[in-house]
Amino acid sequence: MKNTIKILAAAVVMICVVSCKKDSKPNYQFMPNMYEPLSYETYGDYGIFPGGQEAMLPAEGSIPRGWMPYDFKNSQEGYLLAKDTLKNPIRYTKENEDAGKELYDIYCAICHGGKGDGKGPLVQREKILGVPSYDDIGRAITEGSIYHVMYYGINSMGSYASQTNEHERWQIVQYVQKLKADLEGKTPRIDTDATPTVVEAKVEEEHHESTEDHSNAH
Ligand code: HEC
Repeated sequence: MKNTIKILAAAVVMICVVSCKKDSKPNYQFMPNMYEPLSYETYGDYGIFPGGQEAMLPAEGSIPRGWMPYDFKNSQEGYLLAKDTLKNPIRYTKENEDAGKELYDIYCAICHGGKGDGKGPLVQREKILGVPSYDDIGRAITEGSIYHVMYYGINSMGSYASQTNEHERWQIVQYVQKLKADLEGKTPRIDTDATPTVVEAKVEEEHHESTEDHSNAH
């Protein structure tokens, strides 16, 4: 009998405790320090910040790490300017060509074809029309124009700026130029190791020695 009363009393207490919970309000926090950090929360609502939120937009003109602004406009003028003046900054090595091929086969070959003749699987299945061959004389593509159309896209071809980074795009440019050279029966460009910087370093050394001799003489 005594036990039953105890159990009943315990049950009443528990029901009281449980019934204090209200779904429309946040529950009671036993150890608030564990839930509420001292620092500001990124998307928290705080009056002291402009806009009432800790997370703010980057300052105007900010450039994300690893990203370089592309100065050519997405217009016919921008296209022509890039075509004439924009040059590939990477060296034309076999490694870059191989990396370019890998990316090309992923992103471009589906339309442009493995050889760049404009006869990829989607063209053969008539899913897309008007894909040119890279040796199309009327277009006379250049390293600058290839980069430009990859950056912005052109007509029914989309942009590849979000799938690839700057370096990768230039590797693809090298490979597209290789395909173009192959189609035209020319030898693709590969840069040799003799670079002018080595010569410059030597001149610098000689100059250094001669000044030393000069000071010794005095
Ligand atoms: C969905 C199909 C498709 C894919 C994928 C595609 N292209 Fe194209 N590409 C086109 C079409 C269509 C055109 C012709 C656009 C026009 O001028 O009307 C074109 C045109 C071009 C041209 C010539 C542009 C000029 O200056 O006249 C180049 C260079 C080119 N693409 C390179 C690439 C590269 C590099 C990739 C991969 C990163 C790629 N394309 C992926 C469909 C595609």
